Amino acid sequence: MSNRTFTMIKPDAVKAGNIGNILQMIYAGGFRIVAMKYLQISKQQAEKFYEVHASRPFYGELTDFMSSGPIVAAILEKDNAVIDFRTLIGATNPAQAEEGTIRKKYATSISENAVHGSDSDENAAIEGNFFFNGLERF
Ligand code: CMP
Repeated sequence: MSNRTFTMIKPDAVKAGNIGNILQMIYAGGFRIVAMKYLQISKQQAEKFYEVHASRPFYGELTDFMSSGPIVAAILEKDNAVIDFRTLIGATNPAQAEEGTIRKKYATSISENAVHGSDSDENAAIEGNFFFNGLERF
C-alpha cells in the first residue's frame, strides 16, 4: 500500500484565492504534508512534467495553463495515499465529480480543474522527485 502522493494546487485555484480552503480539505482528509512549495513553472517545465500526455490534443492547452501562474506543489502522506487522494479530489472533469470533493467545490472545467493528484505510486515518486530534493522533505 502506498503512503505518499504528489499534488499541485493549479493556477486557477491559486488565482481564485483557494489555497487555504484546499489545504484545509487536505488536512481534514487525514493527509500530512511532507514537502511543499509555492512557485511558477515555465512552459518547458510543464511540458516535461506532463510528457506522458505529449500526444494528446490538450497538451498545448494544459502546459500553457500550468505555466500561466503560480502553483502550490506538495508531497502528501497517509495510508493508501494515491487512491485516497484521488477520491478526495474527485473526477478530472468537475461536472462528474462527487459532492464534497475538491474539484466539485473549486474546479471550473476539465482543463482548469483546481488540483492535480498522482495516478499511481510510481508516478507519485517521479512527480515528487521533479519538484523536491531530499533536504526539502520532512
Ligand atoms: P491532471 O490530474 O493534472 O492530469 C492531466 C491533466 O490534463 C488533467 O488533470 C486535466 O487538467 C487535463 N486534461 C485531461 N483531459 C483534458 C481535456 N479533454 N481537455 C483539457 N485538459 C484535459
